[in-house]
Amino acid sequence: MMLFQKLVKRLLALVMTMLILMLVVFFGIIYYDGEETLQDEIIIDWDPETLVLNNPLAPKEVKEGYLLLSASSQYMGPLNKESKQRYSGNNLSCTNCHLNGGTMSGAASWIGIVDRFPQFGGRANKEGSLIDRINGCMERSMNGKAFPEDATQMKAMIAYMKWLDKGIPKLNSKNFKGYPKIEAPSFAVDMEKGRSIYTIECIVCHGQNGEGIRYNDTKKGYQYPPLWGSDTYNDGAGMNRVLTAAAFIKNNMPYLQASWENPKLTDEEAYHVAGYINSFPRPKKENKKMDYPDKKLKPVSTPYGPWTDNFSAKQHKYGPFPPIIDYYQKNFGLKKIK
Ligand code: HEC
Ligand code: HEC
Repeated sequence: MMLFQKLVKRLLALVMTMLILMLVVFFGIIYYDGEETLQDEIIIDWDPETLVLNNPLAPKEVKEGYLLLSASSQYMGPLNKESKQRYSGNNLSCTNCHLNGGTMSGAASWIGIVDRFPQFGGRANKEGSLIDRINGCMERSMNGKAFPEDATQMKAMIAYMKWLDKGIPKLNSKNFKGYPKIEAPSFAVDMEKGRSIYTIECIVCHGQNGEGIRYNDTKKGYQYPPLWGSDTYNDGAGMNRVLTAAAFIKNNMPYLQASWENPKLTDEEAYHVAGYINSFPRPKKENKKMDYPDKKLKPVSTPYGPWTDNFSAKQHKYGPFPPIIDYYQKNFGLKKIK
């Protein structure tokens, strides 16, 4: 009898322990989810060697995707030995604009990007996939050509973007999509102010003629990417719009001195310098007339026509933008920010 009682006691103890364990696991999961939001507050340095390239937990395809995105010229551009592998037309890398491997908030981060597509895009006036969106940057920012839908490179780039959401710690204080918007000034770009800001804040890295600085190793692209001239984004790219470029610049440049939390330039300074860098010649995109089939959806600072308004080409390029923004608000009920 004693033995039986002991057994029952032990069994009870066992059941209790299991119950406690289950509760611990259950609340653990809930608490862990809460932890993830807390992790958003943690800032960890971007170190692609440990986080991606030498990370045993990162699949091979993810590493390949990262190389395509961060050393684009060698892996899919002019520096690739095989002409068939050349899709991008300049020596930029995707990560020259999508900083820190696409994890930087305030620099059109790729964190959460897979869940944001398919998405309506005015440029094509239809619901577009993530593949379409990447090809948009291929044809414009990279001044190259689109990948076929089923290209292994496309799959690898998207595998990397997907992996960002679970494979690495949150690297920024906020998961900010796009760019934090700037206030469009009530005046046009002042070229003299732009030039002077460029000389003080940008010239050391991007050069006297916006040509950037290449790596000593000729097998590699740019250490400091070019802003104008023949080897950079073309005139159909988002960065060629003054308001878009100003938003990028304010939150990210000068490099390592400015961030979204802690910008260096004011909205106005970013605006003048954006107008200045976009005043120089750059590669031309063909068929831009076909962009935005519904012309009223064209961002106000798109510098090429046709438009559905009577503002001059000069005003669409250099502002002032508030009158154009008001026009679309009044006539079409559209709230435009760029
Ligand atoms: C300390 C060097 C440095 C300074 C100063 C600097 N940049 Fe940059 N800039 C960079 C680097 C490096 C990148 C690419 C970032 C990367 O690949 O992680 C970049 C990228 C850019 C890009 C996007 C890529 C491209 O080629 O178009 C623009 C636009 C840009 N910078 C504009 C500016 C402007 C305007 C200023 C002055 C307000 C400025 N930068 C100051 C180093 C610098
Ligand atoms: C010269 C700068 C530049 C380069 C280089 C560049 N992009 Fe972009 N990208 C942009 C801009 C500007 C946007 C629009 C950001 C905005 O207005 O919110 C954008 C948007 C995107 C988006 C959509 C982001 C979102 O939140 O909706 C994706 C995805 C993307 N780019 C991928 C790429 C890939 C992949 C490459 C290389 C093949 C690349 N980009 C090269 C400037 C660039």
